[in-house]
Amino acid sequence: MFSNMQSDNNVPVIAIDGPSASGKGTVAQGVAKALGFHFLDSGALYRLVALGAERRGIALDDAAGLAELAAGLPARFEGEDIWLGDERVTDAIRSEACSAGASRVAAVPQVRRALLGRQRAFRQAPGLVADGRDMGSVVFPDALLKVFLTASPEERARRRHKQLMDKGLYATISTLLQDIRARDARDSTRAVAPLQQGADAILLDTTQLTIDQAVEAVLKHYHAVCARP
Ligand code: DC
Repeated sequence: MFSNMQSDNNVPVIAIDGPSASGKGTVAQGVAKALGFHFLDSGALYRLVALGAERRGIALDDAAGLAELAAGLPARFEGEDIWLGDERVTDAIRSEACSAGASRVAAVPQVRRALLGRQRAFRQAPGLVADGRDMGSVVFPDALLKVFLTASPEERARRRHKQLMDKGLYATISTLLQDIRARDARDSTRAVAPLQQGADAILLDTTQLTIDQAVEAVLKHYHAVCARP
């Protein structure tokens, strides 16, 4: 969707950045639904590149091969479903192997560059809620509202564990906690677009919040920004 459309810089963007398993995807979707806005799950694009590389036998250290794949990625977002070519990969891209692969391809500058236009094309009326790591800093630096959404590593491991259990997938909380810490370290120390709270982003710690409370908090900030003279 939107891959061939021009984006419109007058369209409001809410950028929601933060670490993995912080719940930002669910919160971002809730905010998009409440406002009737479009939704960009930018992490899914990196996951799709990782999965596509595995399918085509492209090594995760082959920057040129990965960038070529990212530039022509045959990805489609249809409602809740995500497609890579003819394959429905909605669940496959959420595997722990894909999470690890995504984190590696996301550290490749050429891949990030190749995905930039595709992400910006999601900016369509009446508005966009964009979820990722560099939405407010790189992809939509002029976003109307920037939120840095996080939760403690322990709470994030617990949430990821519940998600996996709900899908019938087994993992221990301690392994997930280790993975989360390793991914945080990689995502926040990489040279390009590291995960960081921007000076212009509002911090929202959801450790003690329900999803509805977190959605409400973002909406409150958004309405406050809109009401500004
Ligand atoms: O949000 P997620 O867990 O689906 O993201 C998958 C990986 O992609 C994660 O390691 C961080 C990376 N990512 C990124 O570097 N920039 C983004 N805008 C979104 C995700």
